[in-house]
Amino acid sequence: MSPSNSGNTQTYTSPNQPSSGGHPELSVTAASTYHGLVQSSHSGVTPDSNPLLSDESSIDQAKINLLRLLVTKYTIAFPHRPIVLHPRKDDGDVVLVTGTTGMFGCHILAQLSLDPSVRLVYALNRASNGLVERHLESIKLQGLLAECLTSPKFRIIGTDISQPNLGLSPELYEEIRDSVTHIIHNVLQATRNLVDLALSSRCLEPPSIMFVSSVSVFRRPYKLPLAPEVAINDPATCVGWGYSESKWVAESTLLAAAEETGLRVNIVRVGQLCGAKNGHWNEKEALSAIVKSAYSVHCLPDVPGLGLVSWIPAYEAAKALIEMRDSTEQVLHLANPHPQPWRTFFDPLSHELDVPLVPYDTWVSALEADINDPSMTLLDHLKRNPALRLLNWFQHVDMDEEKEPLGLIPPSAIKASRVVPWLNDVEIGENMVTRWLGAWRETGFLPSASHDRSRKVVSKL
Ligand SMILES: NC(=O)c1ccc[n+]([C@@H]2O[C@H](COP(=O)([O-])OP(=O)(O)OC[C@H]3O[C@@H](n4cnc5c(N)ncnc54)[C@H](OP(=O)(O)O)[C@@H]3O)[C@@H](O)[C@H]2O)c1
Repeated sequence: MSPSNSGNTQTYTSPNQPSSGGHPELSVTAASTYHGLVQSSHSGVTPDSNPLLSDESSIDQAKINLLRLLVTKYTIAFPHRPIVLHPRKDDGDVVLVTGTTGMFGCHILAQLSLDPSVRLVYALNRASNGLVERHLESIKLQGLLAECLTSPKFRIIGTDISQPNLGLSPELYEEIRDSVTHIIHNVLQATRNLVDLALSSRCLEPPSIMFVSSVSVFRRPYKLPLAPEVAINDPATCVGWGYSESKWVAESTLLAAAEETGLRVNIVRVGQLCGAKNGHWNEKEALSAIVKSAYSVHCLPDVPGLGLVSWIPAYEAAKALIEMRDSTEQVLHLANPHPQPWRTFFDPLSHELDVPLVPYDTWVSALEADINDPSMTLLDHLKRNPALRLLNWFQHVDMDEEKEPLGLIPPSAIKASRVVPWLNDVEIGENMVTRWLGAWRETGFLPSASHDRSRKVVSKL
């Protein structure tokens, strides 16, 4: 178990695997902070068999046992509800949201600012100097309106939510506990602490907890064509990637709390977020790294088959997430119900960057040749071509035609589109490519368009 796993807190990341972002929620900057979840080999306990999984033989049973133990740890002795409970005033929703400095968190804030039924928002973030400035920076980067932060309904709070009482003063903890109607948990840590807060509310109806999970909890191939919007009882489905495992532990903790205490819980498994309205796509993510690789290896990867992707833009995803907060559905997939072929995006990318699409394996070989080029240091290689930081992952990704490109099990979003019907109208198409390129060029992540034009001229000479 990770040494950072203490008391009520849940902080757990995994070996050789980056740990943030969307699917593939790979961060090219996140370091591997795994400290040996599985130190010894086997405890001898056999996991329940899961007939839906197709490659059970290779599943790490020790890891499965440990994940179950973690859930047991986080679900011991839920607090009783207070004896005296008050009815809630019907004067608007009070939302507690965690982790709002990041890409999706900012979008969630923006949507909460627009929702007239939301009266107050407590945004709990890691304490740091300039917390408001960090929000403003992120909001600007995503092309969102800075006004959303200056709304009087926001309280931006710096704290360590893994501490008892979420690291808050007794007065503030009490104020939040007795006023909050909805909790939106947008980070991995401290899920149990939020359950304890909800259960100790003195309101007749405790706040609901929505957990921003990820469709990548489905790591193992499923025999069903689509990953279903249901609770996952068997951790064999998620093992092998610390990020997915941590999401599963948090999901299971919440679902157990719901079952045992009646707390209303919504697990929203988010699919790959494909950029903000202004085209900003988190530069730490795999897709951004793939695109940037074109400048080093002079090609972009194609994928086998159609390679349907269920990407969803961040603005619409955050809007839908907010609308899901009163749903009685426990598990929803916030993914595009109408996936589009990989080439919808990669044909125009190849055209714009003037590089060919090559078979995926050829692209990986080009990365391997690139990293072995002795003319520069490893650090310079990684700076210039961030895809190299994920080389190991790209080398092992399962490019099965039945999966989405880069190994994602295609998620069903049927329930989600019943709860938020307009999800069926969210279009993703090649027009997004120009916006992505524009945003990456604007931040300097990619060279300017004029650089590209002169590159094209030189290559034609
Ligand atoms: N991006 C996607 O495509 C995608 C897809 C599926 C699910 N999701 C989920 O959506 C959520 C937000 O993702 P994102 O893409 O917006 O990521 P992001 O831009 O990297 O933002 C992550 C947020 O989490 C906070 N955070 C990270 N580690 C923390 C810790 N130890 N304690 C407290 N706060 C911490 C960060 O705070 P600091 O600023 O202090 O670091 C930041 O506010 C995550 O739960 C992610 O799993 C995202």
